[in-house]
Amino acid sequence: MQNDELLYAASQLARHLRRSGVQWMPGPDAEKVAQLADSFQPPDAHPPSATQSASPSKPAPPPAEGPRKSAASRAAGRGESGRRPAASPPDRLGDATRSRLAGVPPMEVSDGPYPGESLSAPQRLEVMEGLAATVAQCQRCPHLASCRKQTVFGEGSVTPRFAFFGEGPGADEDRTGRPFVGRAGQLLTKMIEACTLRRDDVYILNTVKCRPPGNRNPEPTEIENCREYFTTQLSTLRPEYVVCLGAIAAQTLLQSKLSVGRLRGKLHRYFDSKVLVTYHPAYLLRNPSAKRAAWEDLQLMLRDAGIRAGQ
Ligand code: URA
Repeated sequence: MQNDELLYAASQLARHLRRSGVQWMPGPDAEKVAQLADSFQPPDAHPPSATQSASPSKPAPPPAEGPRKSAASRAAGRGESGRRPAASPPDRLGDATRSRLAGVPPMEVSDGPYPGESLSAPQRLEVMEGLAATVAQCQRCPHLASCRKQTVFGEGSVTPRFAFFGEGPGADEDRTGRPFVGRAGQLLTKMIEACTLRRDDVYILNTVKCRPPGNRNPEPTEIENCREYFTTQLSTLRPEYVVCLGAIAAQTLLQSKLSVGRLRGKLHRYFDSKVLVTYHPAYLLRNPSAKRAAWEDLQLMLRDAGIRAGQ
């Protein structure tokens, strides 16, 4: 493994652990990481001059003032509460290097941490259960509330690497109280499994929690009424990737008016999460020829995540 690949993998692991609620990690020492990386090189891979040159695979020495503090660790401000702040991972790779490693185009960066602290799994469960109970009583959209059989909160792992973000419940979801269980849901399950994941490993949620009657699109006011719910879900779960399924989910999360066709093909940002936009499974059922493009989207994300799936 090249030094920069090892550094990148270490920084990704550290980010993942922080997102998953690990409260403290030892500070990374760039020089030790570089030494460790060197020790994994085959003997003929580091002639003396190469280890001192500014070759792209050799990380630069740390700056004199030590590793740069990330915006995330600054804003976390946990030092103020007397608790030790989680160390930020070394982040000395440019976007170009990261993209080369991942084999994806550069990401549109709008960096920033999720608000508040990352919670442990039991704390997340508690927050999600409390929120689900609130959602179940919600009357913010009187018409939707009067039409629904029940709300559909979302389900899955509370420490997910991937979250799948849909539009809103249909008839099957309204009946069962579970997201994506109808025909579109069965296709989504296949898409998740094609990514070598299981439904239980990921989290599945919708933009609106009540079924819009007749499966119409949710109204802007209905989406705004639910914004607090899905933003709390995402900032509690802090997935590394959010997959937006269709235009409603993508435009709502990214606050954009662009079409799926314009938003797909690259990774966007939502706080700490990378966001992939792809076609909604219901659209794929109506337009099977778009399945290839949807699979290309998922593969883009999987390459970035270091997952090999049917390349
Ligand atoms: N379509 C969605 O967007 N969400 C569901 O839960 C089911 C179908």
